[in-house]
Amino acid sequence: MSRKPIFAANWKMNKGPSETEDFVKSFLSKVQLQNLNCDVVIAPPFVSLAKLTEALHNHHGIQIAAQNCSQFDSGAYTGEVSVLMLREFFTHYVILGHSERRAIFGETDAVINAKIKKAREANLKPIFCIGETLAEREAGNLETVLRTQVNAGLEGVSEKDLGDIVIAYEPVWAIGTGVTATSEQAQEAHAFVRSLIADLYGPDAAAKIRIQYGGSVKPNNAAELMACPDIDGALIGGAALDPQSFLDIIRNGTAAE
Ligand code: PGA
Repeated sequence: MSRKPIFAANWKMNKGPSETEDFVKSFLSKVQLQNLNCDVVIAPPFVSLAKLTEALHNHHGIQIAAQNCSQFDSGAYTGEVSVLMLREFFTHYVILGHSERRAIFGETDAVINAKIKKAREANLKPIFCIGETLAEREAGNLETVLRTQVNAGLEGVSEKDLGDIVIAYEPVWAIGTGVTATSEQAQEAHAFVRSLIADLYGPDAAAKIRIQYGGSVKPNNAAELMACPDIDGALIGGAALDPQSFLDIIRNGTAAE
């Protein structure tokens, strides 16, 4: 089964509209996107979505993601952004369940599940993040944590909708810390997550779903990680803020796939 790798830049709360425009100009001047055999996605803050859409005009090689969405349709939800609003910005993907949303903003598995379903109603493709903390790993709870997050996050999600979901395995202890999971640790977790999908949806769905690795991915470790059989791309934070570094990760990573 060959799965097309997907490299997504998660800018988090960085880059307003003017920095977004600068990034896109620089990135596009360096790369012939048609020559990259992978999906390239950028997730800017909400306020930069319009500028990203405008700056990418006619460059269909890059897809746009939001970093979050509301589980509600519309109404009295101060500070929230709905999936239909995101569609107006030509958004394709939405990152859901990121560990920062879970830990800092208290998002539970049930909320993440509601958001995944809401995103699919609007035909947005969730990048569904899961991962364990260091304490959970050290206590021997890696598999239990991943099983709970996958089962609860995908509760009631159809096999058809699963086909438009990307999973991002991001060990919390590797996010923004400079500590990357070794390729053995990452491959082991990815294979386990794929087996969880097989339990829920069967072997064909498991073979098709793309599972990205995230957590301190850099140009110099992308090749080793992407060479692992169950790793299908990366979700990149800090190292995707610089156009050259994001591009080097994509180039090194796709060369290894
Ligand atoms: P990092 O972030 O690459 O800065 O570790 C990854 C993420 O949080 O998605």
